[in-house]
Amino acid sequence: MSEDKQVLNDIGKVIAVLIIIAIVISIAAINLVGDNEGTSAAFQEKKVLDRIKPLGVVATTAAEAKEASPVVEEVAVEQGPMTAEQVYNTACMACHSTGAAGAPKTGDVAAWAPRIAQGDDVLFEHATKGFKGMPPRGGSPQLSDEDITVAIGFMVSQSQ
Ligand code: HEC
Repeated sequence: MSEDKQVLNDIGKVIAVLIIIAIVISIAAINLVGDNEGTSAAFQEKKVLDRIKPLGVVATTAAEAKEASPVVEEVAVEQGPMTAEQVYNTACMACHSTGAAGAPKTGDVAAWAPRIAQGDDVLFEHATKGFKGMPPRGGSPQLSDEDITVAIGFMVSQSQ
């Protein structure tokens, strides 16, 4: 009988030690993840979305791309037609802001007056087909007629 008691006693001690170990481990675990954002639901959701995000998205607008993959920070999206200023800055500015090759400078009213006087059609034709030092479409054949028209409009509006 007393042997049984001894066994029970030993089992009791082992259980007590196991419980203490379990408590220590739990406290350590809580401290590890406790005070960073690791447990917040929003953070967990973002982590999951991050992990399962698609490798590529086909989207035609920036908004669509953003919706398809909220973690996408920057997306290269076909923006449709460029604004006049964008066309000017990418294809015309190199010459028309500096006067390179004898180009009439944007903002130079005197240089533009006689050119503007030729009329829009002539300006458009010279800009698309080329004219003396002015290469066809400013050397950017991918520009559409619309791009050229708005870029001319931009330069003219700045030079009157
Ligand atoms: C490589 C330099 C260069 C680039 C790039 C360039 N131009 Fe020009 N452009 C010129 C020069 C030089 C002239 C003046 C030609 C002349 O009359 O001797 C000129 C003249 C013009 C004229 C006046 C034409 C006329 O009949 O007087 C227009 C309009 C024009 N450019 C539009 C554009 C547009 C639009 C772009 C951009 C898409 C552009 N250019 C890009 C060099 C350039």
